[in-house]
Amino acid sequence: MAASRGIFVALNVLAVVEAVRGAQLTSHPLQHTSDALWAGLRSEVQGRLYEGVPMAKSCFDGPDSEECRVVRATYGDETSRSDVFGGYINTQWETCQVTGEQCLLDYTNPNSTLPTSPPNKCRLGSISKYYIDVRSPKDITKAFKFSEKTGVPIVVKNTGHDYKGRSSAPSSLALWTHNLKNMSYHPSFVPSGCARTKSSPGMTVGAGTQWGEAYAFAEAHNITVVGGSDKNVGVVGGWLQGGGHGALSNVMGLGVDRVLEYKVVTPDGVLRTANMCQHQDLFFALRGGGGGTFGVVTEATILASPQVTLQAVILIFPRPPTGTQSNITRDMFTVMVNNTVRWAEEGWGGIANGFTAIYINPLLSPEQAAVSMKPLIDFGNNASARVIVTEFPAGERTLTSLPTASSL
Ligand SMILES: *[C@@H]1O[C@H](CO)[C@@H](O)[C@H](O)[C@H]1NC(C)=O
Ligand SMILES: *[C@@H]1O[C@H](CO)[C@@H](O)[C@H](O)[C@H]1NC(C)=O
Ligand SMILES: *[C@@H]1O[C@H](CO)[C@@H](O)[C@H](O)[C@H]1NC(C)=O
Repeated sequence: MAASRGIFVALNVLAVVEAVRGAQLTSHPLQHTSDALWAGLRSEVQGRLYEGVPMAKSCFDGPDSEECRVVRATYGDETSRSDVFGGYINTQWETCQVTGEQCLLDYTNPNSTLPTSPPNKCRLGSISKYYIDVRSPKDITKAFKFSEKTGVPIVVKNTGHDYKGRSSAPSSLALWTHNLKNMSYHPSFVPSGCARTKSSPGMTVGAGTQWGEAYAFAEAHNITVVGGSDKNVGVVGGWLQGGGHGALSNVMGLGVDRVLEYKVVTPDGVLRTANMCQHQDLFFALRGGGGGTFGVVTEATILASPQVTLQAVILIFPRPPTGTQSNITRDMFTVMVNNTVRWAEEGWGGIANGFTAIYINPLLSPEQAAVSMKPLIDFGNNASARVIVTEFPAGERTLTSLPTASSL
């Protein structure tokens, strides 16, 4: 009996494998979704269903057009890329990983006409065939119902900054959350369903908000929020739901440690409020489970702290001439590795790449900061780096004026 059931199960698994293989070869749900169905969805979202267009398409259509000129001029600029649906921060995620199809310029020289010359053609690659410019949770509910009916897969995109490419997929329907940008400050935020005694200052941000916007809003309200160093990254998506590391995290916690509440549309199409008093399991999952894993978050309320005075140490090393070797990066990281546990315990956090390092600290005095960071400051001075040791007083535009590694 047990043996025959085992065979039965095995046969069923084989049948499923064969069915999936067959489906891949012959068709995709997109091919079975009629124009009428798309038209129906379009009217359900008040016309805000559009076709995905690669950022560089105009340059394939007419290399001398004004539209193409703008694309060439802004091609390497993160802010411009994050503001268009068909632009991703890393262009490999505009490329289909299976077929190699894409619609790209030369990132190192966007003026080059080589990539747009025949026989090269502009192909959609991994960019979604359709996207909804999401303006309310209802749009997301409609998209889930549509996906359930047609089988067309769903993708969630705000800025397109995801390093694992989770904000694009070929032949999909994308939910573009980028225009959910409103923010509000609540001096005593009580998570829905919780007792009044659970109140704390909170800042609520829509799913399209980027860190640069959130920092400006926080400073205007004299509060500190813990966020990332790249001001183009989204607050609520992969950064927050995936953990949320920031320069202040060693002292003030990760992004996920500071979430007070999420509003999220789960795949059954229901808008839910998840916090420590209701849907606790979902609240737990959304604090580390990864962007878009358990639903589409439409807004999050994060803990707001008083403004703090920060000590900052910034090193900018001269770049070696092209084609020459330099040990700067290796030697700088040696200094870091030898000191990093102590620095973390003393309250430092930051970001470094090959030729820059930016550290901030909300705990120390200027004198303590100089002593604590002496190994790095000495190393920088010996290696002819520009060394900036400074204080950002509380109440000044600290986070918005702090450089990011990519801006140095
Ligand atoms: C590309 O062309 C524009 C307009 O002609 C020019 O301003 C820009 O400097 C060029 N960029 C490069 C990298 O050559
Ligand atoms: C944004 O505005 C909408 C409509 O007024 C509201 O429902 C939503 O809660 C607001 N979101 C935030 C983050 O303030
Ligand atoms: C801003 O907050 C700080 C506390 O962090 C307080 O000392 C200061 O008076 C506040 N400034 C304004 C303008 O409210």
